[in-house]
Amino acid sequence: MSNKQVTLSTKKYMPDPNYRKEAWCKDAEHAYQGYITDPDGFWARISHELEWFQPWETVKEWQYPFARWFINGKTNVSYNCLDRHIAGHRRNKVAIFWQGDDGSTRSLTYWQLLREVERFANGLKSLGVGKGDTVCIYMPNVPEQIIAMLACARIGAVHSVVFAGFGSDALHARITGAGAKVVITADASIRRGKTIPLKPILEEALINATSVDHVVVLRTQTPKISLLSDFERDFYELMEESDKNCAPESMDAEDPLFILYTSGTTGQPKGIVHTTGGYMVGTYYTSKYVLDIKDSDVYWCTADPGWITGHSYIVYGPLLMGATIFITEGTPDYPDAGIWWKYIEKFGISIMYTAPTAIRMFMRFGEEYPNRYDLSSLRLLGSVGEPLNPEAFEWFYHTIGKGKLPIVDTWWQTETGMHMITTMIGEPMKPGFAGKPIPGILIDIVDKEGKPVPPGISGQLIIKEPWPSMVRMVHQNEERYRLYWSGPENSFTASDLAVRDEEGYVMILGRSDDLIIVSGHNIGTAEVESALVAHKAVAEAAVVGIPDEMKGNRILAFVLLREGFIETPKLKQDLLYHVRITLGPIAVPSEIRVVDSLPKTRSGKIMRRVLRATELGEDPGDLSTIEE
Ligand code: WTA
Repeated sequence: MSNKQVTLSTKKYMPDPNYRKEAWCKDAEHAYQGYITDPDGFWARISHELEWFQPWETVKEWQYPFARWFINGKTNVSYNCLDRHIAGHRRNKVAIFWQGDDGSTRSLTYWQLLREVERFANGLKSLGVGKGDTVCIYMPNVPEQIIAMLACARIGAVHSVVFAGFGSDALHARITGAGAKVVITADASIRRGKTIPLKPILEEALINATSVDHVVVLRTQTPKISLLSDFERDFYELMEESDKNCAPESMDAEDPLFILYTSGTTGQPKGIVHTTGGYMVGTYYTSKYVLDIKDSDVYWCTADPGWITGHSYIVYGPLLMGATIFITEGTPDYPDAGIWWKYIEKFGISIMYTAPTAIRMFMRFGEEYPNRYDLSSLRLLGSVGEPLNPEAFEWFYHTIGKGKLPIVDTWWQTETGMHMITTMIGEPMKPGFAGKPIPGILIDIVDKEGKPVPPGISGQLIIKEPWPSMVRMVHQNEERYRLYWSGPENSFTASDLAVRDEEGYVMILGRSDDLIIVSGHNIGTAEVESALVAHKAVAEAAVVGIPDEMKGNRILAFVLLREGFIETPKLKQDLLYHVRITLGPIAVPSEIRVVDSLPKTRSGKIMRRVLRATELGEDPGDLSTIEE
């Protein structure tokens, strides 16, 4: 990777000064300096806003590359998300507003949510789940998914949530990788008015998944699908049969809270492990100071709980703040592209946290849709998942924010657990730039030698000091974990390219490894390639990311066919279908190109950058290692 000069825009939007007066974060610069002068004191103060069954003794222990946070502190995240509010003034406050695709709505107060979580937690116990056991959750975006997550946290079980859009092979790898004892699923999810069965995908995934003792099924369809007695249990029957009180397990700050798989640069996904205390403090801190959640807000994060954004900023962070959250199972353009704006009007949503890919989709449909609805309840907009390009920023700012609302473009990762870089509310915003590191986070941008690059020159983004919600381990892969901390001076390497301007604002330029971010979802090229070569017609495959106006990137696949197979439209369809079934719709290439050979190094590695450059008509760079 060479360090390139990047031309940076100097456009700035100055926010209304009142925002800063009202915000939780009144002075980001002051807070930032507060961290520098006393790093441990900074995190200690935040941790004291949450409840600990036993106070911690030391803020952190950093023995490169392993960190422990809030040593010997005992707490429970579900207790902090629920019981803490029940004891206070939020007992009857709505915790979850849910909107179904068919127009039906439901709501749960904090009191009701706690009741359900306790019963379901006891239900899990009756299935033999205890502290330290892993539970896989494969569900659509319904309140029961949140209930399941919190119930695991309550009894100290480690949840591993798998996005419901994943196919059977991807699900199998995640179930067996984590050794899940119980899998919680639903009969179906509803998308665009259609029922999409989920359970059959799970059944396929369970073949040879020997760790699984039970499956719990949320049955929403009529007539109800039948269940295998003993092995399969109904979600609500299990709950009804269980005792109503379940004391929260006392968890050590370093006990794992969850595993979340994310795409790797090899074919295997990485099981990112987050722990109790640090993750709780990190997501609480950023939900408060970055998302600025207040008691009067109705907060909507449009992600799915199956991704880290959903874990940190649908479930844990906002509930730790005692927020009223809104969730929906529906899609943004069904029944039409006005549906999201309709929800904002209907529920009085005040904070909307979404993704650039969604914003770009709405741009295409035009202003007509948002202009039909009253969006005056909105006070803060947020973006996550991929760069918010200036055009999308401008549209979001003017059409949705009416030229008044702050936008927090938050850069972070599954591995960081919480926001790392953004423009704090009340600070001047620069389209195209995520912003500066938040108070508590030290970053740098470095060249190949690990030396910091000057403003305007691109380089690798690194994080210089540990933070509470940092990844603790890659499940059963310490070597991979260690690789994260292989940056200069023992820093964390984000594998993102970035550039800074004179004022320290950071622009994220994209991944520097073999991950492709498609509509905000990380897809490993190797994962798609192995899915393709698993098809009998394919001898070799290479997958590259090509810039796409809507999705950020799209997947282009090159395949070399085996002897006896010829290129036909039907074969290409088959290959796409094969990827859809095994990995899921998000990983399906937008195009398959049949080729006679693939560019390789002499040691046999496929040179994806050459394919990509040729495709884009760019200079392929150094070809000295290419095979004849
Ligand atoms: C990208 C999602 C630019 C980045 C929270 C990162 C972003 C990867 C932004 C992590 C942003 C996330 N601007 N790029 N605001 N947010 N990314 O693990 O490449 O699903 O490394 O976590 O998404 O994706 P992940």
